[in-house]
Formats: sequence, C-alpha cells, structure tokens
Amino acid sequence: MTAAMNDTADTADTAMTVAIDGPAAAGKGTLSRLIADAYGFHHLDTGLTYRATAKALLDRGLPLDDEAVAETVARQVELAGLDRDILSAHAIGEAASKIAVMPAVRRALVEAQRAFAVRKPGTVLDGRDIGTVVCPAAPVKLYVTASPQVRARRRYDEIVAKGQAADYETIFADVKTRDERDMGRADSPLKPAADAHLLDTSEMSIEAAFQAARAFIDAALK
Ligand code: C5P
Repeated sequence: MTAAMNDTADTADTAMTVAIDGPAAAGKGTLSRLIADAYGFHHLDTGLTYRATAKALLDRGLPLDDEAVAETVARQVELAGLDRDILSAHAIGEAASKIAVMPAVRRALVEAQRAFAVRKPGTVLDGRDIGTVVCPAAPVKLYVTASPQVRARRRYDEIVAKGQAADYETIFADVKTRDERDMGRADSPLKPAADAHLLDTSEMSIEAAFQAARAFIDAALK
C-alpha cells in the first residue's frame, strides 16, 4: 500500500479516487501501482478481498456455494492483512470468481472498499466494478483491457518466469471462462462505466498506458 503524502492534495477537502476496472491480466494492477506511487495515493487491489474470502473458506473446509457462510467470512476480511503473494494462486482466483457472484458477499466487501476509497490524499482502487458500483462518482475512471490472447500470454510468461510449468491452451481457456463469469453475472458484471476512459494494452506498453492515465488524472486534479 502506498502511504506517501502529498502536502497539497492532503489539505484538499475531498480525497481523489482513481477507479480502474478491467478483466484479469489486462495490466490494471501494474498501472494502479504506478499511479499510486506517482501521486502518493493509497492503493487497494479489490480482487484480493474476493481472494482472501475464498482462501479463508478453502482453508476452513467451508463450502463455496453457501452465501450466508461466505458473507460471514467476507465481513472478517481485514484490508491491512491482504498478501498478494499468498493470494495469487490460480485456484484461489478461480474460487474467488465463484463467490464473487453472490450479492451478500459483494455487499460486505464493497462496504469495506468504499471506506478505503475516501482515504486522503487519494486512492486508487482496481477491480471489476469500481467505476460502476463501488465508486461511481470517482473523478477518474479507467477501463483497462487487452485481447484474451495477449492476456493469456502474459499469464503464461509470468508463470514460466517463476520457473513453474504452464500450458498456454489451458490458461487461455481459463481466461475466457473467467471473463464469461465476470461479465455475465447478474450482480455488478464487469463492464466499462459510461464515463470511463478505455485503455487497450494489447499493443500499448505499460509506460504508454501510464502516461495516458497521468494526463486524465492531472486534468481532474486541476
Ligand atoms: O483481479 P483478480 O483476478 O484478483 O480477481 C479475482 C476475482 O474476484 C475476479 O475474477 C472476479 O470474479 C472477482 N472480483 C470482483 N470484483 C472486483 C474484483 C474482483 O468480482 N472488484
């Protein structure tokens, strides 16, 4: 989490929120961290809140299809304790996208995410429904996407770089399944907010995406 303070922004009446949405492996995590570092904003990867809920259920041998149980566990998630390394496992991501279809789980986690979003001097939240549901009034909304092929290739390269075995076709199929689940669910489906700026990173470097984002943020801060 980025906690560095910016004196000017810290004295502002309201916190600045940058809402970043998009499908898995589109580059929104890297972009969010770059923005948070550059502006001294706090960053929350909201996917980790769904992952932490799923992991707690798996660890305790609890079912992934009982909404009341999942909601109770979701309400116990502590934002300060979210550990990306522990939560990044593929199986946890799969389980997270299953419990993320449950309205009661979403309500619990969205409450915590909204409380985070108002921290000063500003925040960057990334996920699937930040611009549409969690922070619909955010002054800057970005929708970061890339083709399923490019995203699957990135995931594949990440896994291979860690020295682990990976199969591109399996990863590609998983990316498509996850997209369908995230975009097709009834509650808070993944989609760009009407006023989101679209950034397609299929053929755009992360640096170019960051510069584009900066221009939108600087304009909003003026
Ligand atoms: O972004 P990440 O892959 O860590 O998210 C895991 C899952 O959590 C997603 O596939 C999605 O189903 C769910 N999620 C969500 N809303 C968010 C963030 C994540 O539904 N704001």
